[in-house]
Amino acid sequence: MNDHDVRRAYGFATRAIHAGQDPDPATGAVNVPIYATSTYAQQDVGVHKGWEYSRSGNPTRAALEACFASLEGARHGLAFASGLAAEDTLMHLLGQGDHVVVMDDVYGGTRRLFSRVLERHGLCFTYVDASKRDQLEAAFTPRTRMVWIESPTNPLMKVVDISDVSRMAHARGARVVVDNTFMSPYFQRPIELGADVSLHSATKYLGGHSDVIFGLVAVHDDALYDELHYLQNAVGGVPGPFDCFLVLRGIKTLAVRMRQHERNALAVARFLAGHPKVVAVNYPGLESHPQHELAKRQTSGHGGMLSFEVEGGTAAARRVVQRTRLFFLAESLGGVESLIELPAPMTHASVPAEVRRELGISDGLIRLSVGIEETDDLIADLEHALA
Ligand SMILES: Cc1ncc(COP(=O)(O)O)c(C=O)c1O
Repeated sequence: MNDHDVRRAYGFATRAIHAGQDPDPATGAVNVPIYATSTYAQQDVGVHKGWEYSRSGNPTRAALEACFASLEGARHGLAFASGLAAEDTLMHLLGQGDHVVVMDDVYGGTRRLFSRVLERHGLCFTYVDASKRDQLEAAFTPRTRMVWIESPTNPLMKVVDISDVSRMAHARGARVVVDNTFMSPYFQRPIELGADVSLHSATKYLGGHSDVIFGLVAVHDDALYDELHYLQNAVGGVPGPFDCFLVLRGIKTLAVRMRQHERNALAVARFLAGHPKVVAVNYPGLESHPQHELAKRQTSGHGGMLSFEVEGGTAAARRVVQRTRLFFLAESLGGVESLIELPAPMTHASVPAEVRRELGISDGLIRLSVGIEETDDLIADLEHALA
């Protein structure tokens, strides 16, 4: 099945299983083989079947990149050894003195890469609440080349208007990168909304089973793809074929998993919102979320992530995360199993305490990655932990 046909003619769940994944021409195997090879025999100098060296290209990786691009509604996909390797490679598009406007409430590791590593190499970053138009507009400088956002944000679940940010950035000559990890392409496709790059820690929903570290980037523009493809090979942060196989396998069930993640998360959010010991719930799928209408406009669902606060602050929150049995106390997100964590001392520990306070990430904020177990079991587990 021609990739172009797959992209145009079939729905999301079908493309997740078929795009880039014709049966193996040598054997008919219905799964793309794991091409465990670093190099490829050439018929003569420079004469080969299109593959030279696996940092530059590998058939298992190419199948995954094609499938992922199709799901994001983009022409091109690029795979990396981790979400952060993808981020680092993207930042090589920039040079000394270039300026980046960054959503203030991004993943802690992203902020660490920017402020503790890339600033040393002459890149400049301004952190703003990109959900507030005037703050975003004021942050641009003549050297702004990129705007970096997450939507919803991690861990406060703020929603950013991707179309509006893209229009504003493009009018000023800057590219827009959206970290789409929380939504997955099933619920949100940033490129269709006007962004230049959709980035994932595929470690999360795309892989889906908490068994691999992986990054993916989708772009539509051919010239931008050429630049990034060059950097992917030149910088070298590529994944191995075994990991590509795992992510390709994970993606096959993305649609069914995401539907169940969302069903469970909405039920959990409603349960928490009605619990007497819970003082705040952040989930864009709740009508009480301040940007619920925007979330409904730019996504087709609200995903499996949420955060909340309990009465009694940090001590009470620590008791809750120690008492759940099904929700494992662990970092990361997006796997089939439910996870619970405290962002301040865990995923966001690398964000300085005063910055966390300014952002509203209290020490007692609890983040849930709601898995795909039975809904009632998850609610019973939280009920027990809150009792
Ligand atoms: C939203 C988000 N972006 C990027 C990353 C980094 O990805 P990785 O851990 O695959 O390097 C993470 C990791 O937790 C994340 O949550």
